[in-house]
Amino acid sequence: MSGEKSGVTATLETVRQGEVPTHVAVIMDGNGRWARQRGLPRWEGHRAGMAAVRETIEGAAEAGVAHLTMYAFSDENWFRPPVEVEALMLLLEEYVRSQREALVRHGIRVTVFGDRLRLPEEARQAIRELEASTEGGTALEVHLAISYGARAELAGVAQALAQRCLEGELAPEEINAELFEAELLTSDWPDPDLLIRTSGEQRISNFLLWQLAYAELFVTDVLWPDFTREHLYGALVDYRRRERRFGLVKA
Ligand code: FPP
Repeated sequence: MSGEKSGVTATLETVRQGEVPTHVAVIMDGNGRWARQRGLPRWEGHRAGMAAVRETIEGAAEAGVAHLTMYAFSDENWFRPPVEVEALMLLLEEYVRSQREALVRHGIRVTVFGDRLRLPEEARQAIRELEASTEGGTALEVHLAISYGARAELAGVAQALAQRCLEGELAPEEINAELFEAELLTSDWPDPDLLIRTSGEQRISNFLLWQLAYAELFVTDVLWPDFTREHLYGALVDYRRRERRFGLVKA
């Protein structure tokens, strides 16, 4: 695992000299600390974090990454002070409305997963519009985890499979990893190859617990609002040095 105060960086040219991971997942952390360091309210950190979201999406598209999954709002985040939750919801709407045109222009498809029924109707509407208008994008698929928690996702899979058993469609002994995977919210995409977490915490925090089984982890001390495309490129280049064995021995 890597940990760098100023962050490993690389150029696009270096990234283009080798293979890039197909799917990169990101835990965007450190918005609050970034704001506190500047004597600003926490929501200012989240606002600054939006610029890093743009930067990372553009950088991933330029680098040739196919899937980018970003943890925008966890199911635990609902328990933050109401004023912060409200600010995050408004920022989400603002992001969707301000970025839609640019995302379409760059051929970026955005999908959202998580318990969207808990979101305010305005945010749900903005998400529906964003998903519909970017549907044809083929340059990069961005998946935003919003009101998402992996344990809730896995419990949902267990419920769906139990229901199928009750209905006689499936016998319990037929349940295997493949059938389980098909019920995940992310079943349309490959698993992440690389997980990047900012702000130095070495935790998974209930993010994609099943899907990250074999992901390489890259932790940087850079706070999310300071994260640039060059930091993303640094992580992509670092990933190349990893020897991925998926539990096997080296050939
Ligand atoms: C973690 O920082 C970050 C979040 C809980 C929210 C991330 C949201 C954004 C970057 C803005 C909106 C995103 C999209 C996709 C529109 P923290 O508050 O936990 O920071 P701390 O650990 O320093 O307190």
